[in-house]
Amino acid sequence: MKIKNICCIGAGYVGGPTMAVIALNCPKINVTVVDSNPNKIRAWNGDLEKLPVFEPGLKEIIKNVRNKNLFFSSDIDKSIDLSEMIFMAVNTPTKESGVGAGMAADLKYIEACARNIAKVAKSDKIVVEKSTLPVRTAEKIKEILDSEGNDVNFEILSNPEFLAEGTAIQDLFKSDRVLIGSDSTKTAKSAAKSLIEIYSSWIPKKKILTTNVWSSELSKLASNAMLAQRISSINSFSAMCEKTGADIKELSKAIGLDRRIGPKFLEPSVGFGGSCFQKDILNLVYLCKHYGLYEVAEYWHQVVKINDYQKNRFTQKIIDNLDGKIKQKKIVILGWAFKSNSNDSRESASIHVTAKLLSLGANVHVFDPLIKKTQVILDLKKLWKKNTLEKKDINRMLNNFKYTEYPQETILDGTAAVALITDWNEFKKYDWNKIVNQSNNKILIFDGRNILPLKHKRIFKI
Ligand code: NAD
Ligand code: UDX
Repeated sequence: MKIKNICCIGAGYVGGPTMAVIALNCPKINVTVVDSNPNKIRAWNGDLEKLPVFEPGLKEIIKNVRNKNLFFSSDIDKSIDLSEMIFMAVNTPTKESGVGAGMAADLKYIEACARNIAKVAKSDKIVVEKSTLPVRTAEKIKEILDSEGNDVNFEILSNPEFLAEGTAIQDLFKSDRVLIGSDSTKTAKSAAKSLIEIYSSWIPKKKILTTNVWSSELSKLASNAMLAQRISSINSFSAMCEKTGADIKELSKAIGLDRRIGPKFLEPSVGFGGSCFQKDILNLVYLCKHYGLYEVAEYWHQVVKINDYQKNRFTQKIIDNLDGKIKQKKIVILGWAFKSNSNDSRESASIHVTAKLLSLGANVHVFDPLIKKTQVILDLKKLWKKNTLEKKDINRMLNNFKYTEYPQETILDGTAAVALITDWNEFKKYDWNKIVNQSNNKILIFDGRNILPLKHKRIFKI
């Protein structure tokens, strides 16, 4: 099938950048990104400085292709109707209630998409799973799509996304691989060919890998699990280093020089954040248990448990070094995004560290170069709601919370401790000599990324 119109359902961190790159590389295809959230669509159509997703290089592409062959629209039905190929790039968060709550992926958004496509489609469609999904989800989607019985043929492809936030555009342009899973029927192979043709506009053919649908779906969960496992592994060694006098940076370098291991993803941290790793591993654990693979489930669960341990270990280090007395003490949190070059704070370690410090009565001041006060408060409230905290406790903690626009001045004014949590480059450039030596009290600095260019007995590494 020759693709002239693409619809992408979900204008988020994946849908927006992915479709922008397709539109740029395939000028003859009209790409429409739709979303059920009208505010998001308005923002995608608005000021380039205020796009809903911040990614280096994204606004330049949007400027180039928006309203030429890339469109953002709330008219979901119309776009489905007009398109030969429909990507589903909606969120698949961890379930909050019902069977599998706290572990399984919530498929309600993906199922809603499939129902919408089934209802609206009047001609044959290629439906592409772009969201990260449990293995064998395509079966369920097919069932929903075929339930309307309106004589339309649907081909389902799995095409998981491997971009990382903060480097999404670079990752999309130079993907290590593009994975396309399909059935082996003639029509399914032909659908896969249509998708291969789109990616071939800028991705070398040898990097486009075709597999069966289940391998493709499972490869995405497995990739994220393996990446997160490396971080939990190095973070577990950071705890060992602290006890033994070994240096985690030296350890990381020594390990990574083995070509079989490689140097990437061995940077110790307060713990990985982001919307993907934790939820995808928990989903994997849930699936393993579903298939009766209890030992495999427990193996992967440890990756998330070590991540929780690392966040708690970091927070406890702050508390212990302030002699357990943090009530009314001023603590500055540097960084709210889960990583640098992103405006995303989902599952950021900062949320957990800040909530714990506030719960013990500290005065916490937060700064992030891209994330504003309203989002910080939303994140904290979400966690408190999940932990069923009472309103009076939430209000008490919010009274001790401040957002600062002037981090360096804030730090120099009576701060007991600074916790650096996000690896923003600008934090490295602060005058740390002045902060350590000239602040009124003996300030303690907890470098949760080991990025500060200074050694001092009051600078604690992770
Ligand atoms: P997101 O929350 O940023 O965006 C999802 C969007 O889908 C939201 O704007 C939401 O309003 C919209 N939506 C939900 N249901 C809808 C419906 N029925 N109709 C129309 N719109 C609907 O999520 P994201 O970070 O872009 O992730 C999307 C998927 O991609 C997830 O499965 C995620 O695991 C996967 N993924 C994410 C990343 C990443 O870096 N964020 C990377 C690879 C894969
Ligand atoms: C991840 C995967 O990398 C990507 O392939 C997938 O498509 C989506 O999930 P993302 O979560 O956007 O991407 O960012 P990533 O670079 O993987 O970082 C995740 C978290 O791990 C961040 O908090 C980051 O700071 C942390 N991290 C990363 C470390 O603590 N140490 C490292 O060595 C690398």
